[in-house]
Amino acid sequence: MSVYKKVFRTYNAEETENLGKEIAKALKPGDVLALYGDLAVGKTTLTRGLTKGFHSNQLATSPTFTLINEYPGALTLYHIDCYRIKNPQEILYLGFEEYLDKGGIVVIEWPQKIEAFLPENTIRISLNRLDLQENIRDIVIESPEKLHVTFSC
Ligand SMILES: Nc1ncnc2c1ncn2[C@@H]1O[C@H](COP(=O)(O)OP(=O)(O)OP(=O)(O)O)[C@@H](O)[C@H]1O
Ligand SMILES: [Mg+2]
Repeated sequence: MSVYKKVFRTYNAEETENLGKEIAKALKPGDVLALYGDLAVGKTTLTRGLTKGFHSNQLATSPTFTLINEYPGALTLYHIDCYRIKNPQEILYLGFEEYLDKGGIVVIEWPQKIEAFLPENTIRISLNRLDLQENIRDIVIESPEKLHVTFSC
């Protein structure tokens, strides 16, 4: 059940990054974000905005071989990319459950690969490309708890 549901539209990558920065302001330690959406829709771009929002020295990039990247900042962001995961159990071997308890922010790309392990309070964000308009994205945020995101583009 979502208490919060809101749709934001972005027209380019920079706006999606800015939305990420605004979302960062609304998060609290321990929050988990699951980012759904097709290849190259903007999940990592949104995550980069989150790392900017937390004033990290490094900005999120697409991990090549590492599945989990750590970005220290106002809150530490743990960026987990499950694209290459074949068996959901793999994520447990990588210490997934410990990351949930570190008091940072856990951001997961391709969360459908580990759906059964997502905690109940997961904030789900789905990014959708509009067929006709190459750069437009509808970004739907759903949260089981109250969230206050202000964003206008
Ligand atoms: N409105 C938009 N929001 C985000 N990215 C956009 C937008 N319009 C165009 N883009 C472009 O789409 C691409 C998004 O790439 P990104 O790596 O963020 O996607 P991803 O969802 O993480 O992909 P993957 O599933 O491969 O990890 C970038 O090249 C970016 O410049
Ligand atoms: Mg990505």
